[in-house]
Amino acid sequence: MKTRQYPPGSLRQRARILKGQYLNHRFERGSPIPPLPRDAIENVLNVEVVLPPARLLMAPGTQPTEGLLFLASLARGLQAKTVFEIGTFTGLTSWTLARNLNGAQVHTLDIPPDELGVFELEGSDEFHPSTSTPMAYESIPLQGGTVTQHWSDSARFDFSPWTHAVDLVYVDGAHSDDYVRSDSKNALAMIGDAGAVVWDDYWRLSPGVSRTLNAMASERHLYRVPGTRLVVFFTPAARTRFLNS
Ligand SMILES: C[S@@+](CC[C@H](N)C(=O)[O-])C[C@H]1O[C@@H](n2cnc3c(N)ncnc32)[C@H](O)[C@@H]1O
Repeated sequence: MKTRQYPPGSLRQRARILKGQYLNHRFERGSPIPPLPRDAIENVLNVEVVLPPARLLMAPGTQPTEGLLFLASLARGLQAKTVFEIGTFTGLTSWTLARNLNGAQVHTLDIPPDELGVFELEGSDEFHPSTSTPMAYESIPLQGGTVTQHWSDSARFDFSPWTHAVDLVYVDGAHSDDYVRSDSKNALAMIGDAGAVVWDDYWRLSPGVSRTLNAMASERHLYRVPGTRLVVFFTPAARTRFLNS
């Protein structure tokens, strides 16, 4: 989604920032998904994690630092052995997850550059892996777990080998209603007894994600992670581990 650029510090730029903050606040106030309670956040974040080199953080389309911190901490808290990410992009989150999980397998899936997906896309679906730059998990030294890349449209991919076998699924692929519904269904089928699913891009500018997760929130306990665009679902066993009530 292209937005007009105003000079840094100009009145127009500051007005746009304030308006964005107001709209984000309004989105959160109107959300049927409650924030993850403070004690649960503290329980999740109560571990040491390694983050990628600073020069790679906060690049457009990648998971921001707060989100990486939450995902890596959650993966460690779950003692995840198998992780599945839908939507690799630069591979920064796959690297972060693998780097923090000794002996784990991180599977990550993206659509091949020349393939058209089964479903329509949304305006915010503008990021795709580069065909000329290596993935972060290839270019930054990686100790800990391993990363396995899969290439397919997520709507055509056979997730069945991972049924009930994944400790953490991270849904961050295409943003349209159809894709988020399909990816979420597959994510929930993959999750094991004591696992969690995390979705990215729950915010006002990804209406397909927010509509789908808002609808899902009437059937399952979902939580927004404050300070990020993440939403998390815990299986009952993982819930007992992180939520005190
Ligand atoms: C926002 S980026 C992912 C960012 C990455 N997960 C991270 O945390 O840095 C979204 C990714 O989803 C991929 N994608 C879009 N449509 C897809 C589809 N139908 N199947 C699989 N991946 C898809 C895009 O190519 C893009 O790389």
